[in-house]
Amino acid sequence: MKILVGTSNLGKIAEYKALLQPHFDPIPISDLKLTLDVDETGLTYEENALLKLNYLKDKSPIPIITDDSGLEVEELGGRPGVHSARYSGVNASDDSNIEKLLLELGNSQNRKGKFVCTIAYFNPLTREDIIISQGECAGEIITERRGISGFGYDPIFYVTKFGKTLAELSQVEKNLISHRYEAIRNLMKRINI
Ligand code: IMP
Repeated sequence: MKILVGTSNLGKIAEYKALLQPHFDPIPISDLKLTLDVDETGLTYEENALLKLNYLKDKSPIPIITDDSGLEVEELGGRPGVHSARYSGVNASDDSNIEKLLLELGNSQNRKGKFVCTIAYFNPLTREDIIISQGECAGEIITERRGISGFGYDPIFYVTKFGKTLAELSQVEKNLISHRYEAIRNLMKRINI
């Protein structure tokens, strides 16, 4: 069954494809000629996921998932958190965000961090209540970039279990441990898949 993912980011669609098949076939909003004119002004991942879901809810004939995610660093009191995408300003790039984070952390000893992903799901065919699910991925922020895969903060996010950063893992390996995977797995249990 097709499922609408509240994004136009084809990289995210590819990640969701790997996570959702064979149960769902994720499609981007552009496939339904929709746009997502929503300012992510929420104070939590859940609020942002719901802002996007509520915008799409009555426009989609097929089930929808929207998400919001971010990196929480212990030493920085949970920052950048919901502000992860634009941490270094409105014109932020992955590179400038990493730069800012490394500068702020300096040579702190506590480098623990976690990625968090919150997913909101709604099925317009059944019109049952919206389901919210969450996933996390724990790791450490290293002092220099390593690896070229993935996106965002992946090059500085070290996962002890693999002895590698997320950017040094293959897509398949990342999907086994990612916050997005855990959130999807929790969602699947809730909708009995
Ligand atoms: P969003 O959920 O697409 O709004 O993502 C928020 C931001 O969190 C992204 O722009 C990245 O900076 C960061 N982020 C979320 N998930 C990941 C990930 O899997 N790897 C690296 N960075 C991530």
